[in-house]
Amino acid sequence: MTDNTTAELLRLSQELLDAIVAGDWDNYARLCDPSLSCYEPEACGHLVAGMEFHRYYFELQPSTSPRNTTIASPHVRVLGDTAVVSYVRLTQKLDAHGAPVTAAMNETRVWHRQPQGWRHVHFHRSAC
Ligand code: GLY
Repeated sequence: MTDNTTAELLRLSQELLDAIVAGDWDNYARLCDPSLSCYEPEACGHLVAGMEFHRYYFELQPSTSPRNTTIASPHVRVLGDTAVVSYVRLTQKLDAHGAPVTAAMNETRVWHRQPQGWRHVHFHRSAC
């Protein structure tokens, strides 16, 4: 694993999170393989495959409340053409009273190096 590969995978992971916060479906879909699979709290313990489950959230009215997402304590492991990126996702936002709060989630995201570049193929998100 090179430092360049680690830096690229962390940059792509941050791009992915920024696309989610911005409601930028085109950028999110560009970074993902269409077969993306996941476990996340919204899926109620079920493995979900494909992009439609995720598209639903992007089609909702984007939040006008400011948000900032930080990747904390990242760990990157490259296994040939596959990489596992794990970190704590910190989301700063405002609560119902307008006071700033920070939410933390554990995320593991798997990337696959394809001819056109790294594509996101699986993730698991759970509460810390
Ligand atoms: N729920 C979309 C994602 O975290 O990738």
